[in-house]
Amino acid sequence: MVKVKFTGFGSDKEVEVASGELLLRAAKDNGVKIPCDCQDGECGSCAVEVVFLGEKDPQCERLDSQGKELTTLIGRGVYTKADAEAFEMSDKAPGVRLACQCIVRNDILVKPYQG
Ligand code: FES
Repeated sequence: MVKVKFTGFGSDKEVEVASGELLLRAAKDNGVKIPCDCQDGECGSCAVEVVFLGEKDPQCERLDSQGKELTTLIGRGVYTKADAEAFEMSDKAPGVRLACQCIVRNDILVKPYQG
C-alpha cells in the first residue's frame, strides 16, 4: 500500500491505495474531485502536481517522449519536447502528471496544477 495525500481539491484527504492503482481511480474512490473530461490522456483536464514523499528516490515509470501523456502535456505548454526527451532518458519523475494516466507506486502529495 502507498499513501496519497490530496490537497487543494476541497477538503484535504490522506488515503492508502494499492501500489499500481491509477491516480484518478484513487481520487474517485475516495471522493476527491479531479476534473477529468476524457479519462484517456488526451484532453489534459486532469493535470495535477505530484510531489514524491519519503526519503529515497521514487521508482517511476519511464515516460515515452512520444507517448500520449507527454504529448498532451507538451500540447498544454506544461513541458517542452526537450523536457520530454530528458524524462525519457532518465529516471527523473515529472512533477506534473495526468491523473488518468499516472500509476501510483510511491507515497505522494497531489495538488491541482495551477499552470
Ligand atoms: S481526463 Fe483527459 S487527459 Fe486525463
